[in-house]
Amino acid sequence: MGPGPTNLSPEVIETFSRPLLGHLDPLFLEILDDTCEKLREIMKTESPLTLPISATGSGAMEALITNLVNENDVVAVGINGAFGERASEMFKRRGAKVFEYRVAWGEPLDMEELAAIARDQSAKIIWAVHGETSTGVKNDIETLGRMKNESLLIADCVTSLGGVKVEMDQWGIDALLSGSQKCLSTPPGLSLVSINARCMEHLVERPASWYFDLNLVADYVLKGGPRRYHHTAPTSMIVALNEGLRLILAEGLEQVIQRHLRASLLLARELQSRDISLFVDERFRLEPLTTVYIPQKFIENEAQIRKVLLEEFRIEIGGGLGPLQGKVWRIGLMGYNAGEESVGRLMEALDKVLV
Ligand SMILES: Cc1ncc(COP(=O)(O)O)c(C=O)c1O
Repeated sequence: MGPGPTNLSPEVIETFSRPLLGHLDPLFLEILDDTCEKLREIMKTESPLTLPISATGSGAMEALITNLVNENDVVAVGINGAFGERASEMFKRRGAKVFEYRVAWGEPLDMEELAAIARDQSAKIIWAVHGETSTGVKNDIETLGRMKNESLLIADCVTSLGGVKVEMDQWGIDALLSGSQKCLSTPPGLSLVSINARCMEHLVERPASWYFDLNLVADYVLKGGPRRYHHTAPTSMIVALNEGLRLILAEGLEQVIQRHLRASLLLARELQSRDISLFVDERFRLEPLTTVYIPQKFIENEAQIRKVLLEEFRIEIGGGLGPLQGKVWRIGLMGYNAGEESVGRLMEALDKVLV
């Protein structure tokens, strides 16, 4: 119940006891095709270039940046936490001209201001994080999509996809990235990207990274392509991802999102009834990740409290990152864990530990 990874369902765990498939085995390629199809369904996109990347979420960030950015390209980055900060650093290393729009950690990005910076600088790309996992803030990507003008909108949906509403095509997201280990409840190690037709026109011809060259990757991954060997795909991970996606679609994406919302509201109520206050204004709360102020009297022992929760009650919650270290706890209710039972178990344990 930290900021990810989260627990796996028994069905996903079972996939790891199946015999290994080769990365060019026809049965595996069928599963790969089905995975891309399911990803499109969950991202709500028709984009043909929708695929898993053999790397964690940060790898998907690097993949998009290396494929879409040339030196001196102008980009506008919204920063209200560690992951906006990370994106900005990656753009700088790529040699882009970066215009940062910063707001305080815990506050949402004002999309009018971010879009105005992008417009004034004629930015090729606007980057914003949907669910800022370092703070528990949900940024309004839908509004940004309406205001992006000529810029390409890239949205980091690592902690939102499968847990809150994400509508890639409807919201005007040109490129989306996510990770396997949060609301999809599959193991860490894979990330997911989707790039629409408009974005594909801007693909760099010979990206600096060979491994993340999306044209080469797509030649192997995408149905109907030459299926040329590029790298040895982590087949068991993709089989597990496929099962995780199947479970979401079987339950119904909307039902899954509602389950995250219900669990998160219950958690907020339970915490507030114990005088533990929320770090983020209820209007901008990211349902799968709740941040709370550590009560003053526990601040000195906060790491010890988390240690006892883990060792005696087998429950992990997260500490704060960067400027929030020692100030907040981060409690995840993602995927398989997003339910009332998890909230009940945590509260029971927390009551004992805090006493
Ligand atoms: C919003 C966001 N973006 C990017 C990442 C990076 O993903 P990873 O740690 O899988 O590389 C994370 C990880 O927590 C994240 O929460």
